Amino acid sequence: MRNITRDNITQAVIGSFGGAESERLRFVLSRLITHLHDFAREVELTPEEWKAGIDFLCRAGKISDDARNEFILASDILGLSSLVDLLQGAAGATERSNLGPFHAEGSPALPVGGDLIRSNDGEPVLVRGRVLDQAGAPILGAQLDFWQAAANGLYWQQDPQQPRYNLYGTLRADAQGRYAFTTIRPAPYNVPYDGPVGDLLRAGGRHAWRPAHFHFIVAADGYRPLTTELYFDDDRYLDADAVFGVRESLVLALGNGDAEDGRPYGLKPPFRVAQFDFRLDAE
Ligand code: BEZ
Ligand code: FE
Repeated sequence: MRNITRDNITQAVIGSFGGAESERLRFVLSRLITHLHDFAREVELTPEEWKAGIDFLCRAGKISDDARNEFILASDILGLSSLVDLLQGAAGATERSNLGPFHAEGSPALPVGGDLIRSNDGEPVLVRGRVLDQAGAPILGAQLDFWQAAANGLYWQQDPQQPRYNLYGTLRADAQGRYAFTTIRPAPYNVPYDGPVGDLLRAGGRHAWRPAHFHFIVAADGYRPLTTELYFDDDRYLDADAVFGVRESLVLALGNGDAEDGRPYGLKPPFRVAQFDFRLDAE
């Protein structure tokens, strides 16, 4: 096609992908091209503005490596990661939330009731609950992968003072689907803002804070793995999460533990109790 105009270019580009290797790819590309072109037409995108967009992508590529992915961060602060999670929702299942960049493979195994506090400062928290199916029946042998930032708002990968895998652990729920472990209350923290995403946040008049949270991946045979986060109802950033991860159903009211609650875990009051039942949807 040689007589390309601003009105026929979209169909020309979509048609060029007519031989795509799958119907799904052809569909996704055609909708992506339609929205990208409509966006450029709507805002009358100038060459200088598009060059600024390309420069942003180049800078994101240069700052990304095995330990840092600026593209995921961009997707997070634009709400796209959260939207993709929300599109995966299933009735009766726990809502999904951000994976984030600090999940680590190979976290040490903890027994049910295990301790992550060790030498960490901070308010002790007993975390406990069950892993259930959509109908509320316990799931045998569910596996939980847990990670969080320390009380200074840093993950062990960001803080040379913390031992490897500090506040990270995996555990298997018991025969009634119950899990429990002890940890400390994490603090709110900033997502990395020393790169192009930080510049975008500043230019957009935004901050980089996330409310404090626990991360979990909960998995069991025959169920879709659940990646989610739990938040605390008194957090000042609950309504202003830089990555839009908060869902009402994931916000915990921490209780005050008593001597009886703490005895099996060697915890003495004062400590807090975070109680949450996860519900997985069948594959
Ligand atoms: C996190 O929760 O670990 C996280 C999520 C998005 C960006 C940065 C950190
Ligand atoms: Fe996090």
